[in-house]
Amino acid sequence: MSRTNDEVWIVGATGRVGRGVARRLAARGLTVVPVGRSRERLLAAGLPADAKVVVADSAERIADEIVRARPRVVVNTMGAFAATAPVIARACMPGGHYVDQANDVVAVNGLLALHDEATRAGSTLVTGAGFGVLATEAVVAKLRAGRPTPHRVRTDAAASVSVEAGTLGAALAASIVDVLTSGGRRYENGRLVTAPLGADPQRLTFPDGESATSAGVASGDLVAAHAASGAPFVTATSALVPAAPLVRALLPALGRLLSFPAVRRLVIDRLGRVRTKATPRPREHSWGHAVVEWPDGTRHEGWLRAGDGMDFTADVTATVTEMLSRGAGRPGAWTPAAAFGADLATTAGGTFILH
Ligand SMILES: NC(=O)c1ccc[n+]([C@@H]2O[C@H](COP(=O)([O-])OP(=O)(O)OC[C@H]3O[C@@H](n4cnc5c(N)ncnc54)[C@H](OP(=O)(O)O)[C@@H]3O)[C@@H](O)[C@H]2O)c1
Repeated sequence: MSRTNDEVWIVGATGRVGRGVARRLAARGLTVVPVGRSRERLLAAGLPADAKVVVADSAERIADEIVRARPRVVVNTMGAFAATAPVIARACMPGGHYVDQANDVVAVNGLLALHDEATRAGSTLVTGAGFGVLATEAVVAKLRAGRPTPHRVRTDAAASVSVEAGTLGAALAASIVDVLTSGGRRYENGRLVTAPLGADPQRLTFPDGESATSAGVASGDLVAAHAASGAPFVTATSALVPAAPLVRALLPALGRLLSFPAVRRLVIDRLGRVRTKATPRPREHSWGHAVVEWPDGTRHEGWLRAGDGMDFTADVTATVTEMLSRGAGRPGAWTPAAAFGADLATTAGGTFILH
């Protein structure tokens, strides 16, 4: 098997998640190499002028650099994960490891489909290493542990995120457009089926007394909850999806419009440039929630409490990356709790509240 060096590459190191991950890993003494489109922007983060950076502007070019240099772990924060994740993850094999923050059904399933390839190559690939997937996957895994296979699972994700002054960014813009175009999904009788985006609206009251609404989305949380529970009926909602009836009624038409490639490109470009002003997070906590039901009517409910959803995401990715760089991962393609257990969520700073 070809040997990797001790470097951790951060693809998208100028972005919000990438900066947070790079800072955390450098503080833990790892050899961090930023990867991005512009040397100036990469160095602007306060690195010395002669620091090693890798300049490449597409998943394919980044993959070529990975194959040449053999870093031990690659963290992919460049977004558009359905397209970029398989290209970059494959370049890490054999022997190198991979982490991303994908949270849509297509991207998460696409990475998990590399399981056998990764196992043969001795590489560990982790997708959904952020608030989305881990915050709900970890609760499902806790509630399921030591019990028979449940009949029904519902997860709800309510991230609370502060906004930085600047622009929304193309990676986040692409994620928003992908959610709108892919519509909704749920598991029925063990099969992944389409559902309207915004289905199953919920009014959530959190353990701290605050509340929010959420609605159905084709998220990575759904895939992970199904795998972690084995339940034939699974739904997943997110507080990022509008739950108001009028907006929900318009979502399918908007999704169809955005599925035209030219419209998609234009909207991602415009949305990515939208100027944002610094805004504190709306609630003190981000919450992952799951309700698990068994055929005999038994029902268990639990929460994972975290702080800012973006900070938690950077903490999860940094924790997973550090473990991978120490060789702690099992070969294969995984969601985070499947790779490292539900307590990864507490190592990354979350707190379980289980009933
Ligand atoms: N799972 C979760 O809970 C979770 C949480 C937060 C974020 N996310 C996802 O994580 C991703 C990153 O989020 P973010 O807020 O950090 O986004 P961001 O601030 O827009 O950062 C994206 C980074 O990727 C780089 N990039 C974009 N296209 C590139 C290309 N073609 N070649 C090389 N580099 C490229 C950007 O570099 P430039 O400086 O050149 O633009 C930037 O550094 C998004 O997809 C977001 O949806 C998931």
